[in-house]
Amino acid sequence: MGEDFHADSAVFARHVLALNDRKTHTVPAKNMYPHQWLWDSCFVAIGLRHSSPHRAQRELTSLVKAQWKNGMLPHMVLHPDIWRSFKVWQSHKARYSHDQIGTSGITQPPMLAEAVWRVGEKLPRLERRKFFKKMLPHLIRHHQWLYRDRDPHGEGLALLISPWESGMDNTPPWMQEMRENHLPTWIKLVDVLHLDAPIEILRRDRRWVLEGQRADTIEQIMLFSNQRQLRRQRYDIHKILRHTQFAIEDLAFNCILIRANTILQDIARVIDRKVPADLVACMRKTPIALELLWDEKSGQYYSRNFTTHELMLSPTIATLLPLYAGTITKKRAKQLVTLLTNTHHFGTKFGVPTVPRSALTFREQKYWQGPTWVNTNWLIIDGLLRYGFVEEAKELREKTLRMVDGAGMREYFDPITGKGLGAENFSWTAALTLDLLTQK
Ligand code: GLC
Repeated sequence: MGEDFHADSAVFARHVLALNDRKTHTVPAKNMYPHQWLWDSCFVAIGLRHSSPHRAQRELTSLVKAQWKNGMLPHMVLHPDIWRSFKVWQSHKARYSHDQIGTSGITQPPMLAEAVWRVGEKLPRLERRKFFKKMLPHLIRHHQWLYRDRDPHGEGLALLISPWESGMDNTPPWMQEMRENHLPTWIKLVDVLHLDAPIEILRRDRRWVLEGQRADTIEQIMLFSNQRQLRRQRYDIHKILRHTQFAIEDLAFNCILIRANTILQDIARVIDRKVPADLVACMRKTPIALELLWDEKSGQYYSRNFTTHELMLSPTIATLLPLYAGTITKKRAKQLVTLLTNTHHFGTKFGVPTVPRSALTFREQKYWQGPTWVNTNWLIIDGLLRYGFVEEAKELREKTLRMVDGAGMREYFDPITGKGLGAENFSWTAALTLDLLTQK
């Protein structure tokens, strides 16, 4: 397909980013997502850097302005006028939260190092050094927090305490774990008595997205109930681990962490700074621990339960993200590429489905249970390129761009028909489309 065909997408993408621009940051989508989200802004900066590296820097500095005193980067920086979100999160109750800026109390995949590096590529040398010097201390504190608070046994894998932290809200392994082992009795009753129907009417997301394209109401209730528990513990990890035992070593998150660790060290090298030795020692453990998440029988990687150490054998797109981590062997990478291209698993006409087609949990239009997302395609393309799978990367890039050409800047897409789903005018779809368009 010729590049000319994509020209309209480039114009559309720029329009979407302008529409969602709030000067210091970009909202993921007007109405539906009115705050700043952590990994969204990282992807947005990766797209913005092409037209405005300065605006891209601001996108990232506004994230670190809201960093907690313990180093956590919160997954949402709240819009000051939306009081109902402040009521939901009540971050001021947490010991280490930001004194002035209202945020959520959990984190999201650590994409910041990647975004800082990519924006730096577009800056003149002196400005790049200045930007890296500004961002490195924040990155170090964030990664130190991840290992201190989220790897309490020093195993090398970060644990997550909410499906929202994974960025893939209703991904099947998390939903199964919640349903089977962490469902409060009142939610069980709502489920059994089908009381979810009246609750459904109260859902705000339904104003903008059709039924069947978002998490089920029961899943949504589980997510909010989990969030309330975390709030009750004031987002204190020691209390949380003592009381809830709901902690998962999420595969995709840890793959992104591995890549982020590598890039953080590259950033430090460019500006002749040392990364603290104890942090480097923690970082070294993660690629080794990643191999513990491999299941020989099915030939796939999985997330792991932090408490029982059992693998969660429910297949998802996360199995392909060790390609992005970049530390697995070429032989393993080849095995993953076979899964990627096999039409029984992840091979579809459009992007990579978030759950393989062969899985019983596959739902082609349901949020993170099947649809394809531009950000996960982008991560996989990047991994493929670094392993030298140039043809496969090119093909996935083309499929992704073709899908966006046809359906616009939607939040996610049906991987079989290419139909646009979820929110309209979605920022990271626009930003990463612009980035993919620069890769020839
Ligand atoms: C949804 C997605 C999450 C994203 C957020 C804002 O919650 O699951 O990954 O960051 O929306 O776009």
